[in-house]
Amino acid sequence: MQGEINVGTHVWVGDPDLAWTDGIVVNIEGDEAEIQTSDGRMVVSNFSKIRPKDLEAPDGGVDDMTKLAYLHEPAVLHNLATRYGVNEIYTYSGDILIAVNPFQGLPYVYDACVMEQYKGAALGELSPHVFAIADVAYREMINEGKSNSILVSGESGAGKTETTKMLMRYLAYLGGHAGTAADGRTIEKQVLESNPVLEAFGNAKTVRNNNSSRFGKFVEIQFDNHGRISGAAIRTYLLERSRVCQISDPERNFHCFYLLCAAPQEEIERYKLGDPKSFHYLNQSSCYELVGVSDSHDYLATRKAMDIVGIKREEQDAIFRIVAAILHLGNIDFAKGDNDSSVVKDESEFHFRMTADLLMCDHQALQNALCKRVMVTPEEIIMKSLNPDAAVISRDGLAKTIYSRLFEWLVDKINASIGQDCHSETLIGVLDIYGFESFKTNSFEQFCINFTNEKLQQHFNQHVFKLEQAEYRNEEIYWSYVDFVDNQDVLDLIEKVSYPTFSFSVYSSSS
Ligand SMILES: Nc1ncnc2c1ncn2[C@@H]1O[C@H](COP(=O)(O)OP(=O)(O)OP(=O)(O)O)[C@@H](O)[C@H]1O
Ligand SMILES: [Mg+2]
Repeated sequence: MQGEINVGTHVWVGDPDLAWTDGIVVNIEGDEAEIQTSDGRMVVSNFSKIRPKDLEAPDGGVDDMTKLAYLHEPAVLHNLATRYGVNEIYTYSGDILIAVNPFQGLPYVYDACVMEQYKGAALGELSPHVFAIADVAYREMINEGKSNSILVSGESGAGKTETTKMLMRYLAYLGGHAGTAADGRTIEKQVLESNPVLEAFGNAKTVRNNNSSRFGKFVEIQFDNHGRISGAAIRTYLLERSRVCQISDPERNFHCFYLLCAAPQEEIERYKLGDPKSFHYLNQSSCYELVGVSDSHDYLATRKAMDIVGIKREEQDAIFRIVAAILHLGNIDFAKGDNDSSVVKDESEFHFRMTADLLMCDHQALQNALCKRVMVTPEEIIMKSLNPDAAVISRDGLAKTIYSRLFEWLVDKINASIGQDCHSETLIGVLDIYGFESFKTNSFEQFCINFTNEKLQQHFNQHVFKLEQAEYRNEEIYWSYVDFVDNQDVLDLIEKVSYPTFSFSVYSSSS
């Protein structure tokens, strides 16, 4: 590195605010260089924070990063920023697509004419686009009879879910108009409409993203041998259950709770709901509304999407009855009873009754579920009373379990309704998980999702570098390894825990 940099060399230098800034080396002393930056400052920097700058890079950037003379961090970031400045949010790096979140609707980027243009075009023929990636996956499937998966990765708020939706829209466009449901709902429409339903129950506002996925999703779209969509399956992972009972300011709980509180009056009365501020599971944060989002509109939109996906009206009512029950459940407080036991506080008697009624369960059974722990031994069943603190934990455990079962049920329902094509031999899978996050205190759930992200990154690295290696070897090109951050050691530390082994014998006796 030092060899390439002399007095007069144009360079990028690490900058605490801008990440990198450009300038010219005016003096070198030992490991340090003095640089005159293009914004008129003089900075002194160690060589380890200096990279050469390509003066011949085109002003508008390059649409494929493999065309860059230097593939280092400042060159990549500068290229992406230059393109972003002219609303080019997509850039290739070989056959990988990089998307930079525009945080605004860009006109004409995704409309039907653009879809038509990308149909059948070879990768790289047109400007980089998410449709081009879906098109390659689809063409390979048709021409080579091979299934493909598209992995969408990035930190929270990067735009994975929006990208996934565009991929699905394009695949639906290519493979549409196959089997039609009895009432006119096409399979592709059902696949697309499963998004708002899942988002209502699995997404929430976080500090990073107003519509953050709090679950992972792998959608398999199946095709018949004419390339038409013939079925689909949605698999979900790692729903963030803890959010049901615990939210931090200024985040929100899952959208569905606020949607239901903004439902038409008739439903509000039926479920005895009202202001979200009156529910413990919602009022731990001061955020109730989202700028530019109408919960009452989204409630009706979710109902409509449920219709399309094939969830019957009675089932929809049952779903929202459970959502309401969870809100009432969270408002049940406990007072101290006799001998370290607990009883439902008089003030929360109403919420207790509402919970039992909405869940259609026996009042005494609910009381026992909340205030007692059942232990089963081979000899007997022991009921142990819980003190008020333990009863609160039991209440929250019940809420989390009911919610995650509801979510699983919803996914099963959508899958059953869309239906899988058991004759299909080819499919395209799209993976959208939730992004990496790092807090001061990270929960176990956070740990799991970050671990999953790390595993995916490793898969990606191996896949990409292995492919490249094979290509270079085939073409007998001299090459050396690209240096990249390899977190395999961290993965090994987590995955390869060796447990002490115990040897034991089993004795059976016949008596
Ligand atoms: N291509 C795009 N065009 C316009 N807006 C976008 C685009 N991609 C992302 N956004 C905006 O950014 C927001 C966050 O994007 P998205 O929900 O897809 O992030 P994510 O990567 O799925 O995050 P998380 O891991 O939290 O689920 C979207 O709600 C939308 O406002
Ligand atoms: Mg998402």
